[in-house]
Amino acid sequence: MSLHTPRKKPRIHFDDDEGLRKSHSTSSGPSSPLQKQREQLPIAKGRDALIREIRENDVTILLGETGSGKTTQVPQYLLEAGMAGKGMVAVTQPRRVAATSLAARVAAERGVKLGSLVGYSVRFDEVCGADTKIKYVSDGMLVRELLSDPLLSRYSVIVLDEAHERTLRTDFLIASLKSIQVKRKQAADGKRKGKSPSSEINPLKIIVMSATLDAEKFSRFYHNARILYVKGRQHPVKIFHTAVSQTDYVESALRAFFQIHLDQPPGDVLIFLPGQEDIESLEKTIISHAKRLPVSVTNVLVCPMYASLPPSQQARIFSATPSKMRKCILATNIAETSITIPGVKYVIDTGKCKEKRYLSKDTGGGFDTLLTRDITKASALQRAGRAGREGPGFCFRLYTEEAFNNLAASLEPEIRRCSLTQSVLELKCLGQDLETVEFMDPPDINSVIAALKTLWIIGALGNSNELTPLGRQMASFPVEPYLARIILASSAHGCTSEVIDIVSLLSSSSSLFLDISDQRDAIASARSKFRHPSGDHLTMLNALRAYQEMAETENKSSRKEWCKQHFLNERTIAEALKIRDQLRSTCGRVGLDWRASKKDSEEPVLRSFTVGLVQQSALLQPDGSYKQLMGHSVVKIHPGSTLADKKVPAIIFDELVYTNHIYARGVSSVPRSYFNGVTPALPNGS
Ligand code: CDP
Ligand code: MG
Repeated sequence: MSLHTPRKKPRIHFDDDEGLRKSHSTSSGPSSPLQKQREQLPIAKGRDALIREIRENDVTILLGETGSGKTTQVPQYLLEAGMAGKGMVAVTQPRRVAATSLAARVAAERGVKLGSLVGYSVRFDEVCGADTKIKYVSDGMLVRELLSDPLLSRYSVIVLDEAHERTLRTDFLIASLKSIQVKRKQAADGKRKGKSPSSEINPLKIIVMSATLDAEKFSRFYHNARILYVKGRQHPVKIFHTAVSQTDYVESALRAFFQIHLDQPPGDVLIFLPGQEDIESLEKTIISHAKRLPVSVTNVLVCPMYASLPPSQQARIFSATPSKMRKCILATNIAETSITIPGVKYVIDTGKCKEKRYLSKDTGGGFDTLLTRDITKASALQRAGRAGREGPGFCFRLYTEEAFNNLAASLEPEIRRCSLTQSVLELKCLGQDLETVEFMDPPDINSVIAALKTLWIIGALGNSNELTPLGRQMASFPVEPYLARIILASSAHGCTSEVIDIVSLLSSSSSLFLDISDQRDAIASARSKFRHPSGDHLTMLNALRAYQEMAETENKSSRKEWCKQHFLNERTIAEALKIRDQLRSTCGRVGLDWRASKKDSEEPVLRSFTVGLVQQSALLQPDGSYKQLMGHSVVKIHPGSTLADKKVPAIIFDELVYTNHIYARGVSSVPRSYFNGVTPALPNGS
């Protein structure tokens, strides 16, 4: 018996019906190793009971430790039990890496090609087809699908996975699915009674899954939905804390790693760091220290792991560690849940993560920034748990036990701390208002006001907060509304081609220009070839054009070398070109000609950018500082910008970065006159 309800007395009894389970063999055959693995997962024992519960309930909350088999197995069980019907099973993931890697795993388990029976859909990348029945989707993608199919009628079952992360998109779905379920039930009942025989709408099943979740809260939200618990298999993890607090977590992680490496038996090491920069710097120091070790010591294989890492490099993390080597994985919190890394016996936890924060008060505009902060207790437990997946493990926390005790219990939901601009626009397109939707946790009214203000400034909403035709067009683009506004503005200036090139680069998950702080001089001289006097946006465009010109004649390895010489991130370019295709086809759909081009003329491009970036702009002050045009902060131009140290009358920028100063990154210089008339006029009296 492996499924029971938590709290109180066990609410249901389940038998382990071996015979029945075996009769549900899948295409990969009962004897294949993957099939054996499937059968040994903790969730397999409760398979039939689980199906029965889901069949009987509209909403099911499923809890279970990571690795128990929820994400990979539940969709397959539903399919095997015929519960997808004519529709599909969607499984949402907060992170795109998780969606793509899980789809690949499940396709392998079923012995099918990825994109056939099992597929995935994440922003700018979709691998699925007409016969896809199980689809792993990023939560953001499913929100976008809502805009074209408000009842999500293609799906019979929607599984909200990793719901405890409470991303803005997942919260949005949690709220929307509740009303969609009611509407679909009514439509289906109507159909049964013969009211609308043409209707193809079937009832919707909702499954909410997580390793750690405030199950009661989710259950209450969904009319006291059934809570099921999969008993997992977790090996003991011995936890160590530092005796005194550490000042430099990267340095401490380095030392802790070599203590393990030199003193402890074999087993891979997983180090949790807040972000890519720390990962890259620690990777370098570990490699250089490892080189100096005596030959008798096992070699170290360092594998970085963060959201924007290309798939080819991710494969290394999941493949078996070569013999006589110790793998050292340097990861952000993407390795905390969702992903299974084999071989890990030791975890080093720096206790830090990056968190998206919305800084409305300081900036006056609508900005998200990433700040390094302490993790929560929930994260610390998850991180430690990674060491006990395959056997007993060890977790070394680089903070004191007292510090652990003082950590916050869990993270505030994203809806309480992120920019709501895109969500407000999406809801407006669905004919709803953020204020009236029933969320699990309602958003902060100040964030709603800031989002409405931004949308009004860029012309997506009118003076009575009504959706404008321009706003509807903005929502068609799979990018932030202000970027969509820039693309739409380019139409009037006849430079859509150039603008889309730049917006594609800005929408990539990593930046085009590598910024290595100790090589800034070399970088500046390599970049001088592309440098545009107006700043970073047109410099980016020059770099992209130079790359494409070079790529026409050069082979793969010389392209790579060229990028290295010019400190350009080739991965960003590849991603941007894919994004560009999508933006071009969106232009086609909304009646914009993406071919419109104003080669070698900067004004149209900068004018278009000013329209979307009006809230992200600053004016030079008499004392030489820059002050936000709409906001009160004094900002500095980031040292990595082509305009660093320059004094120009006005700047527009892509983002603000908070370190010891507020830095504007991705900066262009524009004449002040460009700001005239780019915001709508206030109606009388407001
Ligand atoms: O969702 P949950 O954490 O309960 O487990 P899962 O993601 O369904 O994974 C169940 C098991 O499948 C893991 O413990 C791994 O053994 C295996 N798995 C894998 O080897 N590779 C993946 N990409 C995903 C899962
Ligand atoms: Mg999972």
